[in-house]
Amino acid sequence: MFHYLCLAVTMKAPNLRMCTTSCFLLVIILSSLSLQACGSQKANRPTVNVIIVGGTGDLAKKYLWQGFFNLYQEQNDGFTFSFIGAARMAATEGDGQLAKILQDNVSCAKSVRPDENCEAKLTEYRSIVTYRKLKTASDYADLCRDIGQDAAKEHGRLFYLSVPPFAYAGIAESIARGCRPSGGGWLRVVLEKPFGRDYSSAQDLAKKLSPYLREEEIYRIDHYLGKIGVESILPFRLFNQDTHKKLWDGEHIERVEIVMKEKIDSKGRLEFYDEYGVIRDVMQNHLTEIFTLVAMELPRNITSRAEFLDNKIRLLEQTRPVNAEQAVIAQYNGYVDQWREELGKDQSEETLVPTFAAGSLFVKNPRWSDVPFVLMAGKKLDERVGYVRVIFRDDAICVTNAGSGSQNKCAKNRQQVIFFTGNPGLKYPTILVSKQLPKPQVPPSWSIPDTDPNMEIFNEKLSNFYYFSPPKDQDAYTSLISACFKGDQQKFVGSRDLMASWNIWTPLLKSIENQKPRIYEGGDDTGSWLDFKVKGQTLSYIHQLGNAFDYQNVGSTFTSISDQFRSQPLITGEKESVITQLAQHLFNIAGQAIRERGSFHIALPGGSTPKSLFTHLAIRMSNRFPWHDTHFWMVDERCVPFNHTASNFKQLHDSLLKYVPVPYLNIHPMPVKLASGLCAAADRGTNTYASDLTLVPEGRLDYILLGMGSDGHVASIFPNHKIMTDTTAEVALTDGGPQDGIPHRMTLTFATINKARHVGVLILGRAKRGMVSVLSSEGVVNPLRYPVTGVRLEQGEQYWYIDHDALL
Ligand SMILES: *[C@@H]1O[C@H](CO)[C@@H](O)[C@H](O)[C@H]1NC(C)=O
Ligand SMILES: *[C@@H]1O[C@H](CO)[C@@H](O)[C@H](O)[C@H]1NC(C)=O
Ligand SMILES: *[C@@H]1O[C@H](CO)[C@@H](O)[C@H](O)[C@H]1NC(C)=O
Repeated sequence: MFHYLCLAVTMKAPNLRMCTTSCFLLVIILSSLSLQACGSQKANRPTVNVIIVGGTGDLAKKYLWQGFFNLYQEQNDGFTFSFIGAARMAATEGDGQLAKILQDNVSCAKSVRPDENCEAKLTEYRSIVTYRKLKTASDYADLCRDIGQDAAKEHGRLFYLSVPPFAYAGIAESIARGCRPSGGGWLRVVLEKPFGRDYSSAQDLAKKLSPYLREEEIYRIDHYLGKIGVESILPFRLFNQDTHKKLWDGEHIERVEIVMKEKIDSKGRLEFYDEYGVIRDVMQNHLTEIFTLVAMELPRNITSRAEFLDNKIRLLEQTRPVNAEQAVIAQYNGYVDQWREELGKDQSEETLVPTFAAGSLFVKNPRWSDVPFVLMAGKKLDERVGYVRVIFRDDAICVTNAGSGSQNKCAKNRQQVIFFTGNPGLKYPTILVSKQLPKPQVPPSWSIPDTDPNMEIFNEKLSNFYYFSPPKDQDAYTSLISACFKGDQQKFVGSRDLMASWNIWTPLLKSIENQKPRIYEGGDDTGSWLDFKVKGQTLSYIHQLGNAFDYQNVGSTFTSISDQFRSQPLITGEKESVITQLAQHLFNIAGQAIRERGSFHIALPGGSTPKSLFTHLAIRMSNRFPWHDTHFWMVDERCVPFNHTASNFKQLHDSLLKYVPVPYLNIHPMPVKLASGLCAAADRGTNTYASDLTLVPEGRLDYILLGMGSDGHVASIFPNHKIMTDTTAEVALTDGGPQDGIPHRMTLTFATINKARHVGVLILGRAKRGMVSVLSSEGVVNPLRYPVTGVRLEQGEQYWYIDHDALL
């Protein structure tokens, strides 16, 4: 009991001025009591003053107060702490806000030592945190006069600046003017990123701080350096110096991937994000810091900070600046809309800021020459994870099949070392080493986590790896706050390394300023659109977009079709590649049709298959496609209102038409809803559509795109349906497709389809494999059973677009 009082009273001392007379008396009484009780030993403990500027902000709420509580638990036996939360608001408001944060957002559950003493310590901690208004220079002077009263006892003073960077210089000046500890204690000032936008702005910031703070007083925090997976890289390398050192070079390592994937988008923080973009937000700092830990020479004297820093800086200086050929950029679909909404921009305004990027770093030294370090980060991707993958060269050539176990050099698996740096829920072990590599040494405190050995990591079973996790599971801020307290500057960013890192990224940032990023769908829909390859010094997307349309050169729509399916051209590849080629093909045929007949008439189907084409056209061809001269027809339509989710027209509209400038009169939905109801025979909607189709030159649609069901149906022509035998109607009603519970549809018939100039059948996904394999026997022609075999053009050309999933 007395123990708490002792601390509480000691710490309240700076606040005496705020006491009323009676409070003052009470404090004096308690002070004398506690001094007696606590004895001289504790009263003489050195003091540490912590000031969090921006102490009521989000970061403080989320991490800092908890992090400092964890520090308090760790260190309060040896030191007497005072914690001050500072902000610009008056104490009347700030007191309450701070108290609430301490109550709501700091807990023993989040503590690194949630033991039985924790609650008592937490009560103690809450009682020694006070609020200060810090706005003017004299506020700083007052604060520092109060905390500096017993200069001889002051061990150190830590300012944590959780404020926007433009405020750093002013605060640094106030600190320098009257806030240095006067009795020999240390001063440390923690800064949060961003540290500039490029080389010159980072240099400006450094210049503004240098008159006030010495280099060893500045702690630029990069919270990634406090993540357990990142903190483990150097110890791992040190422990394996003997075995792995000779493997850790370009002779053995093919490439290193340093990755940070996020699932969330930038919504809600566009004002910040759009100023920075993914390269400044995470690549210049987090990923480049990780790169240094993987690639730098190990210090010979591991306790020497100077040698560590020298090696880190030398590596960065040996790293070639990244140019545009060494990087790709992209932006998620919808970013511009969010940006317009949040920043009140006009519909005509655009932003080119990338939300995804990949770039390769090359180091000009003998150890790493020609080894790409591929850094990649992005928002709105398929998963949240961060990792470093060191991939070894595969030089074994195996003669017999003997000994194909995983430890054998000839096993098919890649030899690799993986560090999970962003490991949500600690789903993965922290470090994995392929079993074909020498068994690694790890510090004795590391253990083998209890993870399912059948879990797959990069398509390989966990049991093919040696794997470990370090014992500590504390959040990054806690780790870095503790490092700062101990003066461990190694875990922070110094000004020389910061400038060297900006030097690497600034040329790329400059060269992409006006470059349009590739647009990606986001999440799982992104597919393999962002996949890229590294070849020599260049890094490029695997799936290339079509080139700008050349009206003079449309004679051959495909330059090199070697594949055939049922004796007709086959376009195949991964789904994205198939869609890209189809879109390019449509583009070419559209150009040809417009040149020859003044307009392009295309009929499109419903269902899920064509949706990716629609999105592709809307996003990637919005500026190029001849929308004004294109007419959109429907291949088939369900008998539902146009605002029904099952409406094919609604899908076409929502995925494509609403984004592109197609004239209203060029859009031809099927008339499924007329006076008498949905597809009522009395309304003769089929006749209406057939007569609309006479608008099409010679009644021949330029292009009809068909999907195919796994039963072989095309359009809404289902197996064994009587529509097959009626060859006169151009448009018909059918009751074929029971799968979606909407049996009635309107459809083009074979009479219309087989008159077309071009027909493409688009087939995607594994579910279609069975049917594709049936069709691969050319002799199978049975429209009644497999309606797709009823597509036989009178004069036109037919193509098959079948992705690998469906074809193999
Ligand atoms: C702080 O705690 C409150 C109450 O539990 C919670 O609603 C809020 O999300 C927390 N804030 C942060 C930043 O963790
Ligand atoms: C290693 O570095 C530390 C800290 O700089 C120094 O005290 C120590 O003497 C060095 N050891 C050797 C063997 O150089
Ligand atoms: C569709 O539109 C009709 C009126 O035109 C309306 O009554 C109905 O609620 C709408 N349905 C949907 C799903 O929006």
